[in-house]
Amino acid sequence: MEFLAEDLQQYVEDHTEPESDLLQQINRETHLHVLKPRMLSGHLQGRVLSMLSHMIQPKRILEIGTYTGYASLCLAEGLRPEGKLITIDNNEELSVRTKGYFAKSDFADQIEMKVGNALDIIPTLKENWDLVFIDADKSNYANYFDQVIDQVNIGGYLIADNVLWSGKVFDKTKNDNDTVAIRAFNEKMHVDPRVQNVLFPIRDGLMILRKL
Ligand SMILES: C[S@@+](CC[C@H](N)C(=O)[O-])C[C@H]1O[C@@H](n2cnc3c(N)ncnc32)[C@H](O)[C@@H]1O
Repeated sequence: MEFLAEDLQQYVEDHTEPESDLLQQINRETHLHVLKPRMLSGHLQGRVLSMLSHMIQPKRILEIGTYTGYASLCLAEGLRPEGKLITIDNNEELSVRTKGYFAKSDFADQIEMKVGNALDIIPTLKENWDLVFIDADKSNYANYFDQVIDQVNIGGYLIADNVLWSGKVFDKTKNDNDTVAIRAFNEKMHVDPRVQNVLFPIRDGLMILRKL
């Protein structure tokens, strides 16, 4: 599914801050050399993540699902000078490329990448989060939320990507595992008294949650 009509997308991007040279390079090289390039957040969503991170001014960010590091670098833009972003991905092969991009960035000293299964790594992190970006395997979104919520500061944020899942979440005929998992995650967020929730129809859907 195209997320926005092509001319609307173009107009929106034309009136949104452009990507930095490094983000443009990651975007281009991911499309040329990496499988499933649609997983990359991209220009508009990347600028939205940067803007949200600047608004939050986090000290600690956790990203679950790094891929080629595009969103990590967008989120890192809003970090406080003493702040740190930890990002987790289980794709060891891809991590060499991603770490190279981090090393080239202005945030080399503020980003720590951990390679392995996020479900195993998250419980080992003794941090309190101001911002958590959930963007790994869809079947574990609810588990990731449960693992991190007690360590999110009051007034901190969680953002979950792909919660519209190309529109499958509201198509009753679609019941594959990922669709069912995201549907259940959205319902869970909607009734959880610990968070305020807004589903932003940006790209494939961002569920924005504020810890109460
Ligand atoms: C949608 S991509 C992340 C995109 C990235 N956040 C961005 O916006 O540019 C999802 C990533 O999650 C990783 N992933 C999937 N299951 C995982 C797991 N159980 N633990 C850690 N990473 C996982 C995949 O290897 C993939 O790189």
